[in-house]
Amino acid sequence: VSGAITVDPGYKNTGATKSAITFLDGEKGVLRYRGYPIEQLAEHSTFLEVAYLLIYGELPSSDTLLDFRKKISRHTLIHEDMKKFFDGFPSKSHPMGQLSCLVGALSAFYPESLNPNPSEEEENLTIIKLLAKMPTIVSWIYKKSLGHPVIYPRNELNYVHNFLNMTFGQITEDIVIDKSVVSAMHKLLILHADHEQNCSTSTVRIVGSSNANLYASISAGISALWGPLHGGANQAVIEMLENIKNDGGNSAKWLAKAKDKNDPFRLMGFGHRVYKNFDPRAKIIKKACDEVLDKLGINDPVLDIAKELEEAALKDQYFVDRKLYPNVDFYSGIIYRALGFPTDMFTVLFALGRLPGWIAQWKEMKANKEPIGRPRQIYTGSTIRDYVPLDQR
Ligand code: SDX
Repeated sequence: VSGAITVDPGYKNTGATKSAITFLDGEKGVLRYRGYPIEQLAEHSTFLEVAYLLIYGELPSSDTLLDFRKKISRHTLIHEDMKKFFDGFPSKSHPMGQLSCLVGALSAFYPESLNPNPSEEEENLTIIKLLAKMPTIVSWIYKKSLGHPVIYPRNELNYVHNFLNMTFGQITEDIVIDKSVVSAMHKLLILHADHEQNCSTSTVRIVGSSNANLYASISAGISALWGPLHGGANQAVIEMLENIKNDGGNSAKWLAKAKDKNDPFRLMGFGHRVYKNFDPRAKIIKKACDEVLDKLGINDPVLDIAKELEEAALKDQYFVDRKLYPNVDFYSGIIYRALGFPTDMFTVLFALGRLPGWIAQWKEMKANKEPIGRPRQIYTGSTIRDYVPLDQR
């Protein structure tokens, strides 16, 4: 502390704002969106209904939801000139880098988004367009990675089904998407939809606090989510489990590595800044893992390794002392893989789920007219000194 300034690295004990959107209780493992328990929403709601709830604060009536769905379906296409951006990426470039760039580029096509003081209608149109176009952008990134032709949105399909059809559909034939895959996807996206002031949401808020447009703010949030300590962990978990499998499945050895302070290896998918008990989302996803793999008749050896690791870690003093439990990323990748997604698309799927939460938090920050984010520091550099000409250095 120096004068009135207290430095709190990683903001571990700093509240950045007041928010009415999501409630977390880290000790009790409680997560609620606008007061509704995540367990009930994951069981009974749909992703678009949860998106409406987060952004507008209430569960919609059936008429309101239908109107919302119709507004979204009017904007699912992206400007054809955006294809030039897709064509510009090297074929193996990471989907998260592409997503951040493509979302940021939307303001070039939709100038109403650039108005720093938009009317409510203008702000709403910008929100609707982003929600509507994200599934198209995400599925086209995937199709481009395969060198396949893109599939256009079908407005008679619901939001999640439409996304899956654009992702796994074929231009030569209609495909049937298994109902259990659609419902598993709803559940996964709902569970990722918001999580109060996490790293990427705080990024969206601080970028938006300078009156930057929504697309630029969300593009920044996507970049923050990419990090393997945050949303990128779901990809890192599968890579870790694959390494353990290829190393003979010796989870005890890898648990020891995770505890070794001289070894940079961490157990990916474990630990959380807020949950010092279980992550309620991980519990639901673990159960869904068994159901989806069973329904699809898939036996994925990394699921057994994941369960072994969890069991061993929950009995290990190092993990117990530090209250390290599986988090949302520990099991989600196993389901994504079972649904047919490649590993490097997992964090993009996290972003697709988190989008309504980012939008809701950005909207709340603007509605509350919060000041521009500008923290202070404690200076530890040189005291004053005079310039030395080059020929005297
Ligand atoms: C998400 O914030 C959110 O809400 C995020 C999220 C959301 O929905 O937005 O929930 C999504 O990002 C989930 C987290 C995904 N990340 C990972 O799974 C990566 C592995 N986890 C860790 O890197 C870590 O647990 C964090 C980043 C999640 C939390 O880090 P903190 O709160 O800064 O805790 P820390 O790094 O200070 O760790 C405390 C102690 C340390 O040991 P000591 O110095 O006290 O001896 O626990 C150890 C750490 O070394 N530790 C781990 C560990 N996580 C923490 N040791 C081994 N393996 C791990 N995974």
